[in-house]
Amino acid sequence: MNFDMFNIKDKIPFKEDIFKGKVVFITGGSGTICKKQAEYLVILGCNASIVGRNPEKTVRAALEISKIRKDSKIVACPNTDVRNIESLEAAVNKTVKELGKIDFVICGAAGNFIADFNHLSSNAFKSVVSIDLLGSFNTVKSCFQELKKNKGSIIMVSSTLHYYGVPFQIHVSAAKAGVDALSKSLAVELGPLGIRVNAIAPGTIAATEGFTRLARASPQELTTKIPLQRLGRVQDVALATVFLFSEAASYITGTVVVVDGGAWQTSNVQVTNSNVYPVQLKQKLLENNPKL
Ligand SMILES: NC(=O)c1ccc[n+]([C@@H]2O[C@H](COP(=O)([O-])OP(=O)(O)OC[C@H]3O[C@@H](n4cnc5c(N)ncnc54)[C@H](OP(=O)(O)O)[C@@H]3O)[C@@H](O)[C@H]2O)c1
Repeated sequence: MNFDMFNIKDKIPFKEDIFKGKVVFITGGSGTICKKQAEYLVILGCNASIVGRNPEKTVRAALEISKIRKDSKIVACPNTDVRNIESLEAAVNKTVKELGKIDFVICGAAGNFIADFNHLSSNAFKSVVSIDLLGSFNTVKSCFQELKKNKGSIIMVSSTLHYYGVPFQIHVSAAKAGVDALSKSLAVELGPLGIRVNAIAPGTIAATEGFTRLARASPQELTTKIPLQRLGRVQDVALATVFLFSEAASYITGTVVVVDGGAWQTSNVQVTNSNVYPVQLKQKLLENNPKL
Protein backbone atom coordinates (compact mmCIF):
# COMPACT_ATOMS: atom_id res chain seq x y z
CA MET A 1 0.00 0.00 0.00
CA ASN A 2 1.49 3.36 -1.02
CA PHE A 3 0.46 6.43 0.93
CA ASP A 4 2.27 9.09 -1.09
CA MET A 5 -1.07 10.75 -1.74
CA PHE A 6 -1.23 11.50 2.00
CA ASN A 7 2.30 12.85 1.93
CA ILE A 8 3.39 9.74 3.81
CA LYS A 9 6.38 8.54 1.89
CA ASP A 10 6.63 5.07 3.38
CA LYS A 11 4.90 1.96 2.34
CA ILE A 12 3.08 0.70 5.41
CA PRO A 13 3.67 -3.05 5.69
CA PHE A 14 0.21 -3.78 7.07
CA LYS A 15 -3.08 -4.65 5.40
CA GLU A 16 -5.51 -1.87 4.60
CA ASP A 17 -8.56 -1.82 6.90
CA ILE A 18 -6.97 -3.92 9.69
CA PHE A 19 -8.42 -1.41 12.16
CA LYS A 20 -11.77 -0.92 10.47
CA GLY A 21 -14.45 -0.24 13.11
CA LYS A 22 -11.91 0.45 15.87
CA VAL A 23 -11.61 3.67 17.87
CA VAL A 24 -8.41 5.07 19.41
CA PHE A 25 -8.24 7.66 22.22
CA ILE A 26 -4.89 9.49 22.11
CA THR A 27 -3.61 11.92 24.72
CA GLY A 28 -0.94 14.16 23.24
CA GLY A 29 -2.52 13.40 19.85
CA SER A 30 -1.65 16.83 18.49
CA GLY A 31 2.05 16.39 19.33
CA THR A 32 4.67 15.36 16.79
CA ILE A 33 4.99 11.66 17.60
CA CYS A 34 1.43 10.92 18.69
CA LYS A 35 -0.09 12.69 15.68
CA LYS A 36 1.83 10.34 13.40
CA GLN A 37 0.63 7.37 15.48
CA ALA A 38 -2.92 8.64 14.95
CA GLU A 39 -2.38 9.11 11.20
CA TYR A 40 -1.15 5.54 10.69
CA LEU A 41 -4.03 4.06 12.68
CA VAL A 42 -6.55 6.19 10.77
CA ILE A 43 -5.04 5.22 7.41
CA LEU A 44 -5.57 1.59 8.40
CA GLY A 45 -9.26 2.09 9.21
CA CYS A 46 -9.40 3.41 12.79
CA ASN A 47 -11.45 6.37 13.96
CA ALA A 48 -9.74 8.60 16.50
CA SER A 49 -10.19 10.99 19.40
CA ILE A 50 -7.44 13.60 19.68
CA VAL A 51 -6.97 14.76 23.26
CA GLY A 52 -4.96 17.79 24.39
CA ARG A 53 -5.00 21.04 26.33
CA ASN A 54 -4.43 23.66 23.67
CA PRO A 55 -7.74 24.20 21.80
CA GLU A 56 -6.30 25.56 18.57
CA LYS A 57 -3.58 22.89 18.29
CA THR A 58 -5.90 20.01 19.18
CA VAL A 59 -8.70 21.04 16.80
CA ARG A 60 -6.22 21.71 13.96
CA ALA A 61 -4.57 18.30 14.43
CA ALA A 62 -7.96 16.54 14.42
CA LEU A 63 -8.93 18.35 11.22
CA GLU A 64 -5.65 17.44 9.49
CA ILE A 65 -5.93 13.80 10.55
CA SER A 66 -9.53 13.66 9.29
CA LYS A 67 -8.28 14.41 5.76
CA ILE A 68 -6.17 11.27 5.69
CA ARG A 69 -9.05 8.87 5.09
CA LYS A 70 -12.22 9.91 3.34
CA ASP A 71 -14.70 8.14 5.62
CA SER A 72 -12.80 8.67 8.88
CA LYS A 73 -14.44 10.10 11.99
CA ILE A 74 -12.11 12.19 14.12
CA VAL A 75 -13.12 13.90 17.35
CA ALA A 76 -11.17 16.73 18.98
CA CYS A 77 -11.15 16.89 22.78
CA PRO A 78 -9.42 20.19 23.59
CA ASN A 79 -9.11 21.72 27.06
CA THR A 80 -8.33 18.28 28.47
CA ASP A 81 -5.55 18.15 31.04
CA VAL A 82 -4.43 14.60 31.84
CA ARG A 83 -3.60 15.69 35.39
CA ASN A 84 -7.29 16.20 35.94
CA ILE A 85 -9.39 13.03 35.87
CA GLU A 86 -12.68 14.98 35.50
CA SER A 87 -11.51 16.62 32.29
CA LEU A 88 -10.43 13.21 30.96
CA GLU A 89 -13.82 11.74 31.85
CA ALA A 90 -15.49 14.50 29.85
CA ALA A 91 -13.23 13.66 26.89
CA VAL A 92 -14.07 9.95 27.17
CA ASN A 93 -17.81 10.74 27.30
CA LYS A 94 -17.54 12.97 24.22
CA THR A 95 -15.59 10.26 22.38
CA VAL A 96 -18.08 7.52 23.20
CA LYS A 97 -21.01 9.80 22.31
CA GLU A 98 -19.53 10.67 18.92
CA LEU A 99 -17.59 7.53 17.98
CA GLY A 100 -19.55 4.87 19.89
CA LYS A 101 -16.73 3.25 21.88
CA ILE A 102 -12.99 3.10 22.66
CA ASP A 103 -10.85 0.08 21.72
CA PHE A 104 -7.33 1.48 21.85
CA VAL A 105 -5.72 4.01 24.20
CA ILE A 106 -2.41 5.80 23.71
CA CYS A 107 -1.04 7.60 26.76
CA GLY A 108 1.26 10.02 24.96
CA ALA A 109 0.85 13.38 26.71
CA ALA A 110 4.10 14.50 28.28
CA GLY A 111 5.96 17.56 29.40
CA ASN A 112 9.69 18.15 29.11
CA PHE A 113 12.33 20.82 29.53
CA ILE A 114 16.03 20.90 30.34
CA ALA A 115 17.02 21.46 33.96
CA ASP A 116 19.90 20.36 36.17
CA PHE A 117 19.09 19.23 39.71
CA ASN A 118 20.09 22.61 41.14
CA HIS A 119 17.57 24.41 38.94
CA LEU A 120 14.82 21.79 39.05
CA SER A 121 12.24 22.98 41.56
CA SER A 122 10.07 20.59 43.50
CA ASN A 123 7.05 21.97 41.61
CA ALA A 124 8.68 21.47 38.22
CA PHE A 125 9.55 17.87 39.10
CA LYS A 126 6.00 17.29 40.34
CA SER A 127 4.51 18.81 37.21
CA VAL A 128 6.32 16.41 34.84
CA VAL A 129 5.56 13.39 37.01
CA SER A 130 1.91 14.53 37.15
CA ILE A 131 1.61 14.78 33.37
CA ASP A 132 3.61 11.70 32.34
CA LEU A 133 2.90 9.25 35.15
CA LEU A 134 -0.28 10.35 36.95
CA GLY A 135 -1.64 11.44 33.55
CA SER A 136 -1.14 7.93 32.14
CA PHE A 137 -2.83 6.42 35.19
CA ASN A 138 -5.75 8.87 34.87
CA THR A 139 -6.10 8.14 31.16
CA VAL A 140 -6.39 4.39 31.69
CA LYS A 141 -8.68 4.93 34.68
CA SER A 142 -11.10 7.08 32.67
CA CYS A 143 -11.11 4.67 29.70
CA PHE A 144 -11.38 1.53 31.83
CA GLN A 145 -15.11 0.79 31.33
CA GLU A 146 -14.69 1.03 27.55
CA LEU A 147 -11.51 -1.06 27.54
CA LYS A 148 -13.27 -3.73 29.61
CA LYS A 149 -16.26 -3.84 27.26
CA ASN A 150 -14.13 -4.07 24.14
CA LYS A 151 -11.16 -6.11 25.43
CA GLY A 152 -9.04 -3.14 24.48
CA SER A 153 -5.36 -2.46 24.18
CA ILE A 154 -3.21 0.26 25.72
CA ILE A 155 0.13 1.76 24.64
CA MET A 156 2.09 4.03 26.98
CA VAL A 157 4.68 6.25 25.36
CA SER A 158 7.78 5.90 27.50
CA SER A 159 11.46 6.66 26.77
CA THR A 160 14.91 5.11 27.21
CA LEU A 161 16.27 7.90 29.43
CA HIS A 162 15.93 5.91 32.65
CA TYR A 163 17.95 2.93 31.33
CA TYR A 164 21.05 4.90 32.18
CA GLY A 165 21.72 8.24 33.91
CA VAL A 166 20.91 11.23 31.71
CA PRO A 167 21.85 14.66 33.01
CA PHE A 168 19.27 17.47 32.85
CA GLN A 169 16.48 14.88 32.56
CA ILE A 170 15.99 13.72 36.17
CA HIS A 171 12.29 14.63 36.12
CA VAL A 172 11.43 12.85 32.85
CA SER A 173 13.62 9.83 33.62
CA ALA A 174 11.86 9.34 36.95
CA ALA A 175 8.43 9.83 35.40
CA LYS A 176 9.07 7.41 32.53
CA ALA A 177 10.50 4.76 34.89
CA GLY A 178 7.15 5.03 36.64
CA VAL A 179 5.32 4.75 33.33
CA ASP A 180 7.13 1.46 32.59
CA ALA A 181 6.23 0.11 36.04
CA LEU A 182 2.62 1.23 35.63
CA SER A 183 2.44 -0.42 32.23
CA LYS A 184 3.80 -3.75 33.46
CA SER A 185 1.60 -3.90 36.58
CA LEU A 186 -1.48 -2.95 34.55
CA ALA A 187 -0.63 -5.71 32.05
CA VAL A 188 -0.70 -8.23 34.90
CA GLU A 189 -3.90 -6.89 36.48
CA LEU A 190 -5.87 -6.28 33.29
CA GLY A 191 -4.67 -9.31 31.31
CA PRO A 192 -7.38 -11.61 32.75
CA LEU A 193 -9.98 -9.15 31.37
CA GLY A 194 -8.46 -9.49 27.89
CA ILE A 195 -6.86 -6.03 28.00
CA ARG A 196 -3.27 -5.79 26.72
CA VAL A 197 -0.89 -3.12 28.00
CA ASN A 198 2.48 -2.33 26.41
CA ALA A 199 4.88 0.57 26.23
CA ILE A 200 6.88 2.01 23.37
CA ALA A 201 10.19 3.64 24.27
CA PRO A 202 11.31 5.94 21.46
CA GLY A 203 14.96 6.88 21.27
CA THR A 204 16.02 10.15 19.73
CA ILE A 205 13.33 10.95 17.20
CA ALA A 206 14.28 13.55 14.62
CA ALA A 207 12.08 16.50 13.73
CA THR A 208 10.20 16.45 17.01
CA GLU A 209 9.77 19.38 19.34
CA GLY A 210 11.48 17.29 22.01
CA PHE A 211 14.52 16.70 19.82
CA THR A 212 14.78 20.35 18.76
CA ARG A 213 14.59 21.58 22.34
CA LEU A 214 16.58 18.87 24.09
CA ALA A 215 19.30 17.49 21.80
CA ARG A 216 22.74 18.53 23.00
CA ALA A 217 24.72 17.13 20.06
CA SER A 218 24.34 17.57 16.31
CA PRO A 219 22.31 14.96 14.38
CA GLN A 220 25.59 13.77 12.77
CA GLU A 221 27.30 13.25 16.13
CA LEU A 222 24.28 11.42 17.52
CA THR A 223 23.91 9.23 14.47
CA THR A 224 27.40 7.73 14.68
CA LYS A 225 26.58 6.28 18.12
CA ILE A 226 23.36 4.65 16.98
CA PRO A 227 23.94 1.08 15.70
CA LEU A 228 21.46 1.50 12.83
CA GLN A 229 23.28 4.74 11.91
CA ARG A 230 20.30 7.05 11.66
CA LEU A 231 18.03 9.03 13.94
CA GLY A 232 14.56 7.69 14.62
CA ARG A 233 11.60 8.95 12.63
CA VAL A 234 8.08 9.51 13.88
CA GLN A 235 7.07 6.83 11.36
CA ASP A 236 9.18 4.27 13.24
CA VAL A 237 7.12 4.85 16.38
CA ALA A 238 3.89 4.78 14.38
CA LEU A 239 4.78 1.41 12.84
CA ALA A 240 5.50 -0.10 16.26
CA THR A 241 2.13 1.25 17.38
CA VAL A 242 0.31 -0.42 14.49
CA PHE A 243 2.06 -3.71 15.28
CA LEU A 244 1.21 -3.61 19.00
CA PHE A 245 -2.48 -2.83 18.37
CA SER A 246 -2.74 -5.41 15.59
CA GLU A 247 -3.73 -9.06 15.88
CA ALA A 248 -0.07 -9.87 15.19
CA ALA A 249 0.61 -8.83 18.80
CA SER A 250 -2.38 -10.57 20.36
CA TYR A 251 -0.13 -12.58 22.74
CA ILE A 252 2.09 -9.64 23.67
CA THR A 253 1.47 -7.73 26.87
CA GLY A 254 3.67 -6.20 29.59
CA THR A 255 6.53 -5.45 27.20
CA VAL A 256 8.41 -2.30 26.31
CA VAL A 257 9.16 -2.06 22.61
CA VAL A 258 12.28 0.07 22.27
CA VAL A 259 12.30 2.03 19.01
CA ASP A 260 15.77 3.56 19.03
CA GLY A 261 17.91 1.84 16.38
CA GLY A 262 19.76 0.07 19.21
CA ALA A 263 20.96 3.38 20.66
CA TRP A 264 20.58 2.68 24.35
CA GLN A 265 22.66 -0.48 24.05
CA THR A 266 25.58 1.76 23.13
CA SER A 267 25.38 3.98 26.20
CA ASN A 268 28.92 2.83 27.04
CA VAL A 269 30.21 3.98 23.66
CA GLN A 270 28.68 7.45 23.91
CA VAL A 271 32.04 8.56 25.28
CA THR A 272 34.11 6.56 22.78
CA ASN A 273 35.96 8.42 20.03
CA SER A 274 33.83 8.06 16.89
CA ASN A 275 36.92 6.89 15.05
CA VAL A 276 36.77 3.74 17.16
CA TYR A 277 32.98 3.37 17.02
CA PRO A 278 31.70 3.01 14.40
CA VAL A 279 34.52 3.75 11.91
CA GLN A 280 37.22 1.23 12.95
CA LEU A 281 34.69 -1.30 14.13
CA LYS A 282 32.89 -1.21 10.77
CA GLN A 283 36.19 -1.62 8.86
CA LYS A 284 37.06 -4.67 10.95
CA LEU A 285 33.63 -6.23 10.50
CA LEU A 286 33.79 -5.78 6.75
CA GLU A 287 37.24 -7.41 6.39
CA ASN A 288 37.13 -10.63 4.41
CA ASN A 289 39.45 -12.69 6.61
CA PRO A 290 37.22 -13.93 9.43
CA LYS A 291 38.63 -16.17 12.13
CA LEU A 292 36.68 -19.38 12.34
N1 LIG B 1 10.71 13.53 20.91
C1 LIG B 1 11.47 12.51 21.26
O1 LIG B 1 12.58 12.31 20.72
C2 LIG B 1 10.97 11.54 22.32
C3 LIG B 1 11.86 10.57 22.81
C4 LIG B 1 11.41 9.67 23.77
C5 LIG B 1 10.08 9.72 24.22
N2 LIG B 1 9.24 10.69 23.73
C6 LIG B 1 7.85 10.69 24.21
O2 LIG B 1 6.97 10.69 23.08
C7 LIG B 1 5.76 11.39 23.43
C8 LIG B 1 5.52 12.50 22.41
O3 LIG B 1 6.66 13.35 22.36
P1 LIG B 1 6.77 14.58 21.33
O4 LIG B 1 8.20 14.93 21.23
O5 LIG B 1 5.99 14.27 20.11
O6 LIG B 1 6.05 15.71 22.22
P2 LIG B 1 5.23 17.03 21.84
O7 LIG B 1 5.26 17.30 20.37
O8 LIG B 1 5.68 18.07 22.78
O9 LIG B 1 3.74 16.59 22.23
C9 LIG B 1 3.35 16.44 23.55
C10 LIG B 1 1.85 16.49 23.60
O10 LIG B 1 1.41 16.32 24.94
C11 LIG B 1 0.33 17.20 25.18
N3 LIG B 1 0.30 17.55 26.61
C12 LIG B 1 1.31 18.06 27.35
N4 LIG B 1 0.89 18.23 28.62
C13 LIG B 1 -0.41 17.82 28.66
C14 LIG B 1 -1.39 17.76 29.67
N5 LIG B 1 -1.14 18.15 30.94
N6 LIG B 1 -2.62 17.28 29.36
C15 LIG B 1 -2.91 16.88 28.09
N7 LIG B 1 -2.03 16.92 27.10
C16 LIG B 1 -0.79 17.39 27.37
C17 LIG B 1 0.61 18.43 24.31
O11 LIG B 1 -0.60 19.04 23.91
P3 LIG B 1 -1.07 20.48 24.52
O12 LIG B 1 0.06 21.44 24.25
O13 LIG B 1 -2.33 20.77 23.79
O14 LIG B 1 -1.29 20.22 25.95
C18 LIG B 1 1.31 17.81 23.10
O15 LIG B 1 0.37 17.54 22.08
C19 LIG B 1 5.96 11.90 24.85
O16 LIG B 1 5.39 10.98 25.75
C20 LIG B 1 7.47 11.93 24.99
O17 LIG B 1 7.89 11.84 26.34
C21 LIG B 1 9.67 11.59 22.80
